[in-house]
Amino acid sequence: MSVRSTIATGNGPAPSTHAAGMPGPGRSDADVAERVDALIAQMTVAEKAGQLTQYFYFDLPPSEEHKDLDLPGAAPGREADVDAALARGEVGSLLFVTDPAKINRLQRLAIAGNRHGIPVMFGFDVIHGLRTIFPVPIAMAASWDPEAIEQGQAVAAREARAAGIHWAFAPMVDIARDPRWGRIVESAGEDPYLASAVAAAQVRGFQGDGLGSPGRIIAGPKHFAGYGAALGGRDYDEVNLSDSELWNVYLPPFEAVVKAGAGNIMTAYMNLNGIPATGNHWLVAEVLRATWGFDGFVVSDAQAVHDLRTHAFAADLTEAGARAVQAGVDMEMTFGDPAYAHLPEAVAAGLVDEKILDAAVRRVLTAKARMGLLDAPYVDEQNARIVLADPAHRAAARAAAQRSAVLLRNEGGLLPLTNPGSIAVIGPLADSRRDTLGPWVFDFDLGETVTVLRGIKDRAGAAVEVGYAPGMRPAHRTFPSMFDQFSGKVPVDPPGFDDAAELARAVSLAHASDIAVVVLGEWQNMIGEAASRSSLELPGGQLALLQAVVATGTPVVLLVMNGRPLDLRWAAENVPAILDIWYPGTQGGAAVADLLFGDVAPGGKLPFSWPRTVGQVPMIYSHTVSHDPRHQDRRYWDEASTPLFPFGHGLSYGQFEYRDLNLDRNHIQPGQTVTVSVTVTNAGERTGDEVVQLYIRQRHGSASRPVRELKGFQRISLAAGESRTLTFPLGPAELRYWNSAARDWVIDITTIDVFAGSDSTADLTTNFTIGS
Ligand code: BGC
Repeated sequence: MSVRSTIATGNGPAPSTHAAGMPGPGRSDADVAERVDALIAQMTVAEKAGQLTQYFYFDLPPSEEHKDLDLPGAAPGREADVDAALARGEVGSLLFVTDPAKINRLQRLAIAGNRHGIPVMFGFDVIHGLRTIFPVPIAMAASWDPEAIEQGQAVAAREARAAGIHWAFAPMVDIARDPRWGRIVESAGEDPYLASAVAAAQVRGFQGDGLGSPGRIIAGPKHFAGYGAALGGRDYDEVNLSDSELWNVYLPPFEAVVKAGAGNIMTAYMNLNGIPATGNHWLVAEVLRATWGFDGFVVSDAQAVHDLRTHAFAADLTEAGARAVQAGVDMEMTFGDPAYAHLPEAVAAGLVDEKILDAAVRRVLTAKARMGLLDAPYVDEQNARIVLADPAHRAAARAAAQRSAVLLRNEGGLLPLTNPGSIAVIGPLADSRRDTLGPWVFDFDLGETVTVLRGIKDRAGAAVEVGYAPGMRPAHRTFPSMFDQFSGKVPVDPPGFDDAAELARAVSLAHASDIAVVVLGEWQNMIGEAASRSSLELPGGQLALLQAVVATGTPVVLLVMNGRPLDLRWAAENVPAILDIWYPGTQGGAAVADLLFGDVAPGGKLPFSWPRTVGQVPMIYSHTVSHDPRHQDRRYWDEASTPLFPFGHGLSYGQFEYRDLNLDRNHIQPGQTVTVSVTVTNAGERTGDEVVQLYIRQRHGSASRPVRELKGFQRISLAAGESRTLTFPLGPAELRYWNSAARDWVIDITTIDVFAGSDSTADLTTNFTIGS
């Protein structure tokens, strides 16, 4: 087969004969392998190194802030360097380009510059939507609804693919147990079972039936592995994890995405137990590839191969590149000055066998072939406009925001609102479009973003008087965030803001209204990458504002806009209704109004234990039994050692009762399965949503096991008076655990307690034995 004739070449968007992703010529395994091998046979070592290099492509906007930007290689004018690499045919992939016309222009350059006509692949951080922004990932996890999560990422994939993007650097599947860590907002929280289900759903959403499905893109779960356990919650700092934590807690979501067929994995920045993750042969080559059989391609995190020098691991860039590629990192993501440009030197010096490069190039080219890139490298700019404008995407985002909200407290059934004549909406976040979207978004449409204020006004209609007062100026970080710097938009105070007068205005508005809806939390630049925090308090004077509003005696609904738990001790005792709305996205305000007015019932549940104060961190529900378990709540003498709200907590507008927790048998052999059933009734007066949760505890065995472990869940909706019986399997996958003494998975001879209920404190229980 002539290689060149199988690849689209030329200088203009080629009218494609078949849509990208449709099974076209050369997509069977054998054809793909033949095309890829024929290409590799003709490539020089420098061309191979080029295929293994992924460049950021953007010029920073001219701004005062950028002169101090201290990211490696982050100098304006970088686009020109990448253009030169494209002209040499030495670029495998680009990231951060989202404009279809620019994508086509760059693709023309890439194809013209590459002797073999190999196109580049475009990757991007499609974290919670591209144009249509969905709730942040921690919020989506709080829906406990894998189907909604899959649909959300399918919409994101459709928009991204239409724009010309082939690959998302998502989902982030790092377990997050320390809310000081800013990236908890990108995670699914503390629990490996929930996080694995959420992670697999996201991969299905991005990829559909697999690489090359129409309108889908490659999923790139990250950051392999352990990144969420950064010392002190300080982003990028070292991680030290025990063997047991690694296998039982931090690795399972990665194994789940491999099983779900993820096409890519991204390595992490930090040291894991002393070895940098991006140069870690054990992690990538042995665990990911040999043990789990991952056959996609691995990319480094940005500049992480370069960083092998700053980790005091590699002596120079040649060694850094050699060690990363040998560990199994196929592609280097770089700001510029790639270590992989030194791979030809490394091969010539005998530091790396060229066969290792060939294997890496094979994995990258296979992904390109499977995505249809070799046949149809250009994007249809007209189609992009149509897909990005699809109103169905906005409807899906609204439904997702409804499902992700968590009703933390609802004393006296204050919610849903019953015909208020007037509503005071208070707090600077209540009418901030940018904050409603949350962190990690770049291509949003601010104009169509619905804030809480807008949503309430639209839903309430003309008959209800809706007033607004910010009450305080926005709170600020002590220095601009990384993304503030990138965008050149460092938040500033509103001009002429009179603090005392604005507070007084908010208080009198609350006083004069039937109900006050107060929106408090963190500004979007306070959370995300490089946005860790040493405190969990409400930033700025927000607590004082809340206290002043509550003091008016007007009933208060607190809406929390956040991506991490905040110190709500005062609110949990003094505010009757608290709804966690997270950063709810493009349609956030509309969804919040739907919930407040009872058009839909909340049903989200916390994906983490909500600590009372930062001093309790890290706090997890699945701790092991230890000395004096009776006084588990008295581990500190100055504060309870229990959470403010437990893992899995969340209320609805129904009232749920559990009964008849039954097993199909009371004794099994290791390897067999028990089926659990439980009946749930909505004993309330309104329809409600419930996430039925199943936990286990192993009474004794060859290791000390957690007091509770989530092993099943189902989200259901029940009308008033309705009952449903649900079943859950407990088999080898649920009952095994990694035993650090045996260094293997084991199922013990033991007794297993089973609990079912509304959250991780569920007390309806039964048990069975595992014996010989
Ligand atoms: C982050 C990754 C992200 C990459 C590209 C890195 O700094 O850690 O999660 O995908 O940048 O934006």
